Order: sequence, then structure tokens, then C-alpha cells
Amino acid sequence: MCGIMGYVGTRQALPILLDGLRRLEYRGYDSAGVAVLENGTVEVRKSAGKLSVLEGVVAREPLAGRIGIGHTRWATHGKPTDTNAHPHGDCTGRHVVIHNGIIENFLVLRERLQAEGHKFRSDTDTEVLAHLIEAEITKMPADLKDRLAAAVRAAVAQARGAYAIVVLSADQPDRIVAVRMISPLIVGIGDGEMLLASDIPALLPHTRDVLVISDGEMAIIEPGRVRITDLDGRPLARSPERITWDAAMAEKGGYPHFMLKEIGEQPRALHETIMGRLDELHRVELDGVRYPEGFVERLDKVWVVACGTAYHAGLVGRWTIEHLARVPVEPELASELRYRSPLIEGTTLAIAVSQSGETADTLAAAREARAHGSRLLAVTNVVGSTLAREADDVLFIRAGPEIAVASTKAYSTMLVALQMLAVDLGLRRGVLAPARAAELLAGLRHLPVLAQDVLSRSGPVEALAERLAGLEHAFFIGRGLDYAVAMEGSLKLKEISYLHSEALAAGELKHGTLALVTRDTPVFALVTQRAVYEKTIANIQEVRARGAEVIAIAYDDDREIAKHAETVLRIPPVDDLLAPVLAIVPLQLFAYYVAVRRGHDIDQPRNLAKSVTVE
Ligand code: F6R
Repeated sequence: MCGIMGYVGTRQALPILLDGLRRLEYRGYDSAGVAVLENGTVEVRKSAGKLSVLEGVVAREPLAGRIGIGHTRWATHGKPTDTNAHPHGDCTGRHVVIHNGIIENFLVLRERLQAEGHKFRSDTDTEVLAHLIEAEITKMPADLKDRLAAAVRAAVAQARGAYAIVVLSADQPDRIVAVRMISPLIVGIGDGEMLLASDIPALLPHTRDVLVISDGEMAIIEPGRVRITDLDGRPLARSPERITWDAAMAEKGGYPHFMLKEIGEQPRALHETIMGRLDELHRVELDGVRYPEGFVERLDKVWVVACGTAYHAGLVGRWTIEHLARVPVEPELASELRYRSPLIEGTTLAIAVSQSGETADTLAAAREARAHGSRLLAVTNVVGSTLAREADDVLFIRAGPEIAVASTKAYSTMLVALQMLAVDLGLRRGVLAPARAAELLAGLRHLPVLAQDVLSRSGPVEALAERLAGLEHAFFIGRGLDYAVAMEGSLKLKEISYLHSEALAAGELKHGTLALVTRDTPVFALVTQRAVYEKTIANIQEVRARGAEVIAIAYDDDREIAKHAETVLRIPPVDDLLAPVLAIVPLQLFAYYVAVRRGHDIDQPRNLAKSVTVE
């Protein structure tokens, strides 16, 4: 998730661009850059690192001009380096592009453009756009009034993916052209000036009148004028809206807390995780994962190492990989692995799962596994993180920056990453029937829509939280994958609402913990695993017999469950292997609403840090 900023008007562009980028800082970034048009020349300054590094660069080499674009990068393709920072130029340096999102077919486009003689400087997917625009604009008649817009349209017609792009060109130095395809883009309407940003907070110091660009739309901004067209160039009539939020709310996209915003971002995050990785022929293509010849066939054990929520994702990974790829998987808490003289060898694969890629225990466990000769595969969110740099293979979850301490969208995207990995391993090992793989991949593709559906059902979850906000203890039970989800649901509740909660394998209850179950201990029962449905119902009856209130998480088509639970939180039916991605959502929402009722600091719960870099 990158930050985008553009300005055209009567004031100096640079300070406005830098201020806007600063206000987009919460989106997280690893490099930044600006381009300003000055006397018919596009001047670029960019650098890896924080915005302050770029500020140092422009202090040494200033830029003057009344039109410019700026970018903070959250890397998805190519390491965070000076060269990979945006803006990216074409061969002539006359056209520059900034971009948020992913161009799925960039490799094919790049090869074609290179064959046509274009010279590439960076490893990014973005740079292809600059060269495509260069190629297209030379085909346009010189007297065509909107030749930049026409060239950008011709360029994006060749690109596949989810993105927002902003283009500045010396060919038409009075305007900025931008296109939105899924990634956010907003025009700010000023007095004799126009702005562009990927989020509203960057615009608020200048204007409260905005035009939110929709998917498949182009914006052409000039001083005092904005035009919106579709991708065929047809003008679209749009009226601005007035923003009434304050800056703090705007930063959270109008949500009161980052956690709720991030829960709500899950459909998009899931989409990004999957995008470009499942092809039409139902194959999985995991960029960044390149096992050596024969490795998968010889593979005799997989370790999954992680902490906290990432470990819970790893538990789902264990189940799924064992089931689909028929190889033993041992999930281990990273802080424990090092001290148990693990049996790790060259025929093992260690999967380290970590949102930040900087968790000290996970890094130590990953290094330990590697030192024993294991191949190391990282599942992480942060390109350029220590874990990503040290691993042999990296599968990025592409969740975008996660700011709330309580992890939500990183968890669900880790699940999907591990599910894709499991299908891929199963196919490569020849133990997963292609028809079954196709079924699962179709299911994975559909998950973002289903997750949106689950989010739309937040009303009953909020009402339940309202009623149970004063509770002291809670239990979460489930079998198989439901048990793994129960652990994550319980952790979410603990960490932000500070009440005692415990997750148990449903069948284990009667071996001790049942003694604690009373009418004051609500039990959340996950019942999505059809193969053990009756067994879980029997466990529900055990707790009900002790007076506990049961809240079930079950499929829409489960007609039985209402007889066994006081409350049922429903999710759309899916393949049982994929259910965790949906079943966690009501539990995240429940934890959130309970903590809000209890008046806690949602985004920064007491005693906890987002990234635990000490052992
Ligand atoms: C809980 C939570 C933590 C992290 C854990 C690992 O909501 O966020 O339990 O999951 O500290 O962090 P990463 O994934 O960055 O290694």
C-alpha cells in the first residue's frame, strides 16, 4: 500500500507534496520520491528510507515548479532501494509514473518492451507503465489535445491488476493524468489548484471538497479544472463531496480505530494476496517461491515457526499442508523451537510466518532451522524485512501496513498464503488430484466476496458484545481447524478486552477445564468442520449442561445448530478447509466491540507492542 500525492496550481509544488506524504505516513513506507516539472523538464528526487531522507535530498538539490507528484512506497515488487523508489521514468525521462498496487502481467510487458529496445533501471512492476506510455505517446498525433491522457489509456489497456497510477509528462506540462483500478485515488478541489492523493488526510490542509475516483476511471487535473473520463475517454459527470471528518478520523478512513479499519480491509487484502497467483488453468504460481529441483519430492518434514497470531495462522497451515500435501508438519512456537534440539535436516522445509518479519524469536528460530540445513520459506507482510532478506523463498501476504497492535488482516492473509502453498505442494508432490485443487482454488478466489458478506453481518455481533461486555471469563472450543481458529478468537479477545479467555480442543474439555464452566462463562463454539460436526455438538451439550451460554459460529445452511446454541453467528458455506478465513471475522469483531464497550485503548493495548524485537 503506497502513498500517492499530486499537485497542480499556483503555489510551489514541493512543500505541498512533502506535507501530503507526511500525512500518509501511517500507511507505512520504505522509500519515497517526488517529481516536479520545471522549465519543461521533469526533475526527480528519490531515496530509500524514511521521508526525512528524501527531505535531506531535496534540501541539497532543491526543486522548483508548480506541478508535481510524490510517492511513498510500500514495496511489493523489488527491494526497497533508491532505484526502486518511485517515480519511475521512461527511457527519455520525459514521462514519470507513480503507482500504488500491482501490475500482474508486468513480466510479460517488460520482456516485450525490452525486446523493442526499452532500457529498464528498476526491478519494479511500475516501470513498465512509464515505458508503455513512452511507446504510446509517440504514436499520437502531435496536435491531439489530450495526447497524454490517450497514451495513458492505451498503456493501462495493456496492464492487468489492481492499481492507481499518476503520470506527469513534459509533453503536456500543464496537467497530471491519473487512473484508478481498485487502489484508492481522490482528487482534492482547491481554489485555482487541484490535488490528488491516495487518501483524504493528505488533502485536508488544502481543501475539504473531494472527488473520489471510482474503478476504471481517469482523472485529468489542471489548475482550476478537473475532468473525469472512463477508460475509453468518454467524459463522466461527477459532483464533489464535502468531507466533514477531522484529520484523525480521516487517517483511519472514517473508522474510529485502525483495528476496525483493518478488519474491514480484509476483502481487499485477501484479493491482493491471491491476485496473480492463481492462473486460469487452476495452477498456483507463487512468485518468490522457487524450490530447487527434486526438493519437494524429497521433502520429508515441514516446520512452521511463528509467534502469537502468526503461530495460530501456522496451525491452520499445518492442518492444510498435511491434508493436501501429505507431508508431516510440525508447528512450533518460535521461542520454544531453539531450546528443544529440533530434528531439522536438509530434507526439511522451515516456514517462518511473521507479519513484521522482525519478530526476534521468529528470526532466531528461522536462523536455527537454516543452520541445521533446512530450506527457509518466509510468509511475511514486509518486503525488505530481515526475515524476507534472510529466507530462501518468500511469499508476501500483501496485506498492506497493519497498524493496530491486534493483528487481523495479516492473520487472514497468512491463512490464504498458507492455503495456496499447501495446494501448490500437494500438486507438486502428485498427491493432490488436479480436480480437487481446482475446486479449492475456485473457493480461494471467491473468499474476498464472502469475507465482505461476513463483514456486512456485524450488527448481531455488536449487539452480542453489548450484552456480554461485562463478562469475566470466556471459552472458545472447536475441533481440527475450528480449534486453530478458536485459539486466535480467544487471543483477540484477551489482548484488547483484558478479560480471561481460553481456547480448547472441544474434545479436551472433559479432561479438566469443564470444571471451570458455569453459567458465567460463555462458550464460543466453532462448528464449521462437517466431518466432526456431531462430535462438536456433543461437546456443546456438555457445556450447556453446566449452564453455559453457547455462541456458535456456523454455516448459513446449518439447520441443526440453532437447537444447540443461544446465539448463532453465521458465515456463508465454504469448503471446510477454507472456513477459518471467514470464521475468524465475527470473532475479531466481537473482540473489538467488547473492548470498545469496556473503554480500552483499542489500537495500542496495554503492555503490548506491534513488533516484538526482543526475545
Ligand atoms: C496478536 C499479535 C501478535 C503477533 C506476534 C507475531 O494480535 O499481533 O501475537 O502476531 O507478535 O508478530 P509477527 O507476525 O510480526 O511476527
